[in-house]
Amino acid sequence: MKFFFAMLSLAVFAATSSSDTTAVTIHVIGDSTLCTYASSAYPQTGWGQELAVFFDTSKVKVNNVAIGGRSSKTFYTDGRLASLKSSVKAGDFIVIQFGHNDRYFGTNARQVPVDSFAYYLQIYIDSAKSWGATPVLVSPMVMNAWKGATLRNVFTEQDYRGVMKTLADKDGIPFLDLNMKSWNQYSSYGQAYITRFLFKFFLAGEYPNYTADTTNDATTHFQEAGSVGHVKMLKEEMDGKSALTALTSALKTMHTLTVSANISTTGLITKSEDLPEGVPVTVRVIPGSGETFKFWVDGNCNEVSEAQIYYGSKMPDAATTYTAIFANGSACVTTSGTSVPIASIVWAQSSSSVAGSSSSAIESSSAKAASWTGFASIIDMANPDSGKGWTETNHTGYTGAGFYNIANEMGSAAYYSFVSTQSASDASIAIRYSNGDAVSRPMTISSDGFSYTFEFPSTGSWDAWDTAYATGVWLDAVPFSFVIQSTSSDGGPNIDFVAFSVAGVSRALKETELLQKPPVEGFALNLSQSLVNVPQAGLCTFRVFDALGHQVFMETHPIAAGSSILNFRAKALQAGSYFAELLFNGKIVLYKSWNIQR
Ligand code: GCU
Repeated sequence: MKFFFAMLSLAVFAATSSSDTTAVTIHVIGDSTLCTYASSAYPQTGWGQELAVFFDTSKVKVNNVAIGGRSSKTFYTDGRLASLKSSVKAGDFIVIQFGHNDRYFGTNARQVPVDSFAYYLQIYIDSAKSWGATPVLVSPMVMNAWKGATLRNVFTEQDYRGVMKTLADKDGIPFLDLNMKSWNQYSSYGQAYITRFLFKFFLAGEYPNYTADTTNDATTHFQEAGSVGHVKMLKEEMDGKSALTALTSALKTMHTLTVSANISTTGLITKSEDLPEGVPVTVRVIPGSGETFKFWVDGNCNEVSEAQIYYGSKMPDAATTYTAIFANGSACVTTSGTSVPIASIVWAQSSSSVAGSSSSAIESSSAKAASWTGFASIIDMANPDSGKGWTETNHTGYTGAGFYNIANEMGSAAYYSFVSTQSASDASIAIRYSNGDAVSRPMTISSDGFSYTFEFPSTGSWDAWDTAYATGVWLDAVPFSFVIQSTSSDGGPNIDFVAFSVAGVSRALKETELLQKPPVEGFALNLSQSLVNVPQAGLCTFRVFDALGHQVFMETHPIAAGSSILNFRAKALQAGSYFAELLFNGKIVLYKSWNIQR
């Protein structure tokens, strides 16, 4: 057991030191096609804002300093290159994409004639090298500009791409040809698809941030899927370049997102592609004439959304399937090959896989320790969001910032907000604790979908630590509460950390940090008429997330078997895009995207 704990402490320290000393940073320099946008512009994004999620973030960080309206000249004359210097360390990468605002018409001081482009780029290259960083040139992606059926390439018409390539070759630095990659892909996808699915073209009401038709900015700027696509092109261009091994070796595994329909649609549908875990996913259909779209289903043929644009979810760490179900189409076929008639697709069909609460899954620490080599996610419990007790450091052997000493009274509790980027139907939880009392200090550990009773037997001294486990825990890739509560008047043990067997579980931001704007008066979410039918008694949770995946509402109620009317409290929400989720005993049984407008 001692050996086992030593390894855990080591894992905590290793994680800290690797992010501080061994992570490299990609500094992203460029214009509005790369920069980071506020959530009020969603789904407009720049590729610099989608870059980090492609990497193991303990190894690669992203510092996106791109800014709209700048050319290679004005980014420099603004002093923005100079001010980057203090954040660059040796071994970092400086990725530079210009061209859109450099295009020369002699009408604006920012414009840079193509024969002066190399002059400015050279300043970036020389600065990066003098700071010990690797400069990387990225040619500008094409614009959505067509000559008849042929996609123009405005960056080879005036050859900004050629200047970049020549310069990169001369200086022996990496050149990522986003220009040619995007020209090839967009030519094959066609004008309709790239305009509606990749560039910034929104009809009124398609996204709540755009209440009027927004069609006048569809030649240059991008929506989220377009910018994610650019990072994928950059990833392909990075492959095999030895100067970029520190980056390519830290790229996450890609998984296939399969998107299809149950008819052969003459409309448009999101193309299947490979994506890494955590990337925002949008699947979308625009039905062809005479076609009637009904809803999207997942790989189990469960309905996930009735919206033609289904967005806001993140790619899980596994292959994923979405199928657009149209009226008069063929039956849905699950990824395991079962055919499900369309008429029988309802949200509550999967009662057989409902996960129940249990305390029988608890195993003694000694039984489990031998087979465990570590935990992917370790969370310090010293500072709960709130609780009845104290954060302390007055005993030896703890890890992290200390431990939480839960008050010695029946029902004393500590509350935490966690978020998982991964789902798991069989996760394990370990809680490291100390109990210097002679008797056990039992507590319930509960979340939205599970509740376990842990005994926490004596560890013999307040300086000695042991670990208690629960297995078979259902985790969803969403924010969730985590509550530890004593069930005896002795209160609880001292709690050091909780560890999850899956990667990607961490503390969540507090709700107050997420709602940046005041709620809009006059709108209230009231689900009092929502009727649910469940096969057994359990806990029903309703959660609402904003477009960026932040939880803005959550409430849990016990419900009886059979039909019940849910009575959640009303909650005012600001205008925007939301995703509402209903969980029964931890399993998502209903998931819908949902727009609230003023
Ligand atoms: C002692 C010990 C604390 C512990 C407490 C308890 O005071 O120093 O760390 O929390 O007992 O009984 O819970």
